[in-house]
Amino acid sequence: MEKTFVMVKPDGVQRGLIGAVVSRFEQKGLTLADAKVMTIPRALAEEHYGEHREKKFFGELVDFITSGPVFAMVWEGPNAVQNARTLIGKTNPAEAGPGTIRGDYALIVDSNIVHGSDSPESAAREIGLFFG
Ligand code: CMP
Repeated sequence: MEKTFVMVKPDGVQRGLIGAVVSRFEQKGLTLADAKVMTIPRALAEEHYGEHREKKFFGELVDFITSGPVFAMVWEGPNAVQNARTLIGKTNPAEAGPGTIRGDYALIVDSNIVHGSDSPESAAREIGLFFG
């Protein structure tokens, strides 16, 4: 059974959206395998977002993700990575369809409520970083 890493980002936690996000994954039929509230240390944030290190928004991204508690989760089920990404919607909330988490709850790309792994390889890496 495939696993994926998902987290409610500081904006989602602050807005009280943990329950709404968890509900959508449960309704879809995925199984919650692990979860915790945590404030991400800067070094972990930089490693998690390592592929974006050269982007001009990298500093802001790390500042934002370490700015308050997140709710980190592991979800399990058939095609968990792709199913989670479909529930979450496109990275830019302006392009995310209604019915998706970002489409329904977010407006701008730098605070888009939730993160989900983009491949089974990323999922294994991110689960290792956060729950290893
Ligand atoms: P996430 O799925 O967590 O993975 C990388 C994140 O970078 C992405 O969601 C966005 O929140 C963020 N991101 C992408 N583009 C920008 C941007 N132009 N400015 C700030 N953050 C961005």
